[in-house]
Amino acid sequence: MSGGGHGDWTYSEYLNLHELLDLQGEERSISADEMHFIIVHQTFELWFKQVIRELSEVRDILGQVPVPEDEIPRAVEHLGRTTEIFRLMANQWTVLETLTPQGFLAFRDGLGSASGFESFQMREFEILLGLEDSDRIGGVNALDAFRKMAPRGEQHENVLARLEEVSSKSSLAESLMLWVERTPIMGSFFESEKDDESVLHYVDAHLSAHKGICDSASGSSEMMAARMKASHESAISFLKPDGTPDRKRAGLLFIESYRELPLLAWPRKLIDAVVELEESMVKWRHSHARMVERIMGRRIGTGGTSGVDYLDATSEYRIFKDLWAVRTILVKPQKRPELVNSEFYGYNSAKE
Ligand code: HEM
Repeated sequence: MSGGGHGDWTYSEYLNLHELLDLQGEERSISADEMHFIIVHQTFELWFKQVIRELSEVRDILGQVPVPEDEIPRAVEHLGRTTEIFRLMANQWTVLETLTPQGFLAFRDGLGSASGFESFQMREFEILLGLEDSDRIGGVNALDAFRKMAPRGEQHENVLARLEEVSSKSSLAESLMLWVERTPIMGSFFESEKDDESVLHYVDAHLSAHKGICDSASGSSEMMAARMKASHESAISFLKPDGTPDRKRAGLLFIESYRELPLLAWPRKLIDAVVELEESMVKWRHSHARMVERIMGRRIGTGGTSGVDYLDATSEYRIFKDLWAVRTILVKPQKRPELVNSEFYGYNSAKE
């Protein structure tokens, strides 16, 4: 970068604008269509860079034990910004949709096997969030493609090293659930003397309320009764996977069930922010698939996948599975177990 220094910048110096505007491949005499294709990709990759930065901050905040309470609002802000970036990116596909199928075919061969599938930044934020290989289509190892590319040179080796590093750290999802596990449940602290007993009592009380609701919804239809029975059984195996309560899930259930308690305000905001983020990512993946279907139908992708079918399948990915699953087993507020130790949650106005 030339000229300028702290406090003495021109606009173009501060933004490295000349360097940035020299990276669109015009030396190859590309068409307006192809330049637009490149610029859209580059803007996405710039946003990916910011997404990684925002999510790394959240992971680091939540990775602390205990998580300093005054840092939670900051984690929520980083998540909120990331969600807005995904919403913006989901709308950005419409710019690409101005490319006609013929216009795309005119330069597609030149891409060779280059594909968004090789976006290392996309893989980095997926890993950082906690997407497991076992949940990927075909259970593929996310790093395999980058291992194959590594011999192409130093930059590729650095990419692989960076992805290996992020894989070796705790993901945001893991840290989040370790934090949720420490939620005081009915005033009982994690790892305190009678905590196991209190949590069991709470989980059983919730399950009993859940059973009551399932029983009354069963009605006289056999099919409905079978459905309600299955629904209650899945609530049991969610909350007590090995016969004893899973404290992480019990913590989540407690936060979602008693959302109005002042002490739970930030925990619920944090969880809402994570759900909103994952929802925005799913919608972004979905709109990518629709754009691709419109421009190239059901051809196979340059990266060698089935194309649209592959992209549609990726929109089924859920990283924060328990955050989604807990919604299925909630009961209405009138039926939830009565709150004990309400004063602990700052709810002094609770009836005696
Ligand atoms: C005409 C425009 C586009 C077409 C036809 C297209 C097509 C595809 C296809 C078919 C795939 C599946 C992998 C493969 O076999 O290649 C894919 C993956 C991907 N594309 Fe696009 N794409 C387009 C634009 C974009 C843009 C602008 C971005 C922004 C960075 C992008 C990012 C990605 C990413 C990150 C993946 C990997 C998805 C995953 O594995 O979960 N694509 N694309």
